[in-house]
Amino acid sequence: MSGEQRKRAAVAVVKVESRDDQVMPEAGPEFVDTAYVQDLSKRALAYLAVGYPVHFAGPAGTGKTTLAFHVAAQRGRPVVLIHGDDEFAGSDLVGRQSGYRKQKLIDNYIRSVLKTEESMNLTWSDNRLTMACKGGYTLIYDEFTRSRPEANNALLSILEERILNLPQMSGGDAGYLDVHPEFRAIFTSNPEEYAGVHKTQDALMDRLITVGLGHFDRETEVQIAMAKSGLSRLDTEIIVDVVRELRGFGVNNHRPTIRACIAIAKILAHQGARAHKDDPVFQWACRDVLNTDSAKVTRGGQSVMGEKVGEVIDTVLDSRRQTTLRVGEVRSRAKE
Ligand SMILES: Nc1ncnc2c1ncn2[C@@H]1O[C@H](COP(=O)(O)OP(=O)(O)OP(=O)(O)O)[C@@H](O)[C@H]1O
Ligand SMILES: [Mg+2]
Repeated sequence: MSGEQRKRAAVAVVKVESRDDQVMPEAGPEFVDTAYVQDLSKRALAYLAVGYPVHFAGPAGTGKTTLAFHVAAQRGRPVVLIHGDDEFAGSDLVGRQSGYRKQKLIDNYIRSVLKTEESMNLTWSDNRLTMACKGGYTLIYDEFTRSRPEANNALLSILEERILNLPQMSGGDAGYLDVHPEFRAIFTSNPEEYAGVHKTQDALMDRLITVGLGHFDRETEVQIAMAKSGLSRLDTEIIVDVVRELRGFGVNNHRPTIRACIAIAKILAHQGARAHKDDPVFQWACRDVLNTDSAKVTRGGQSVMGEKVGEVIDTVLDSRRQTTLRVGEVRSRAKE
């Protein structure tokens, strides 16, 4: 090996990947923008416009994440997404000394003389929160209560003093970073979730404007299920009415959610089936999708949900039949 080759072989460089994970979201063709959705977006955008972070809070399936993306998209700034995670530490949000750049040169060209040079530079790698603060992006922090409260501490000074504190960062003007004036944050959480969530520090909650979400209104549910499945309005309305009726039953008034409407509508559309009492696909799809543990109501140790699903389907179809008959009567009387 020549002296030059020996030198090159001895140089070791550890590279650190830099990540740039922002996206520009755009509403897809299935996105439904009803008066209900528009009202929520308008309010959220008004709060963001004056600099407040917005928090969409509500039970599962109330459209929190979709709305967060929709609102973020309307700001026209790149979007950075973080999902709350119990394993997070503060450094997972802001960044860390994630590696080092090391150079080692061993020069023993003249066998008897060994010259060693070694230099090592710590390399800081930004994580998504820091990236959003620097670039003035919109941060979506989905299900943020799944992270432990101490992991979210960095947000306190970001949201109030608009300063990002990076105590471990070395070199340059490290330490404190002014948050870009266009930086905004949208949070989502489910306050009724009891598995895998943490209580949030009052200080953080106090900095957010919380917009409480309940289930969509009927028209929005119908339009969403139609858009996602391609099923007719008539059949979709029956599915939505069955789901909404079941929601009021049992111990959990939040399930079944819009996801159940979408699932049944997709199955019917795929099978070419109809929301009719004597359509077997409709019967088994409803039983399987809706027979959840949502209603932990039992009789003689057996869940009564299956029975209840059948009853509700009958009630919904009967009441539609009655309405159609009444409308027909009114029309024929008007003609007379
Ligand atoms: N405006 C909308 N247009 C079309 N589809 C929508 C709209 N809002 C919500 N959806 C659909 O409804 C379902 C539930 O919405 P989303 O996932 O946003 O709810 P979530 O409140 O975040 O639920 P979770 O708490 O379980 O995360 C999804 O399939 C989503 O695509
Ligand atoms: Mg969600």
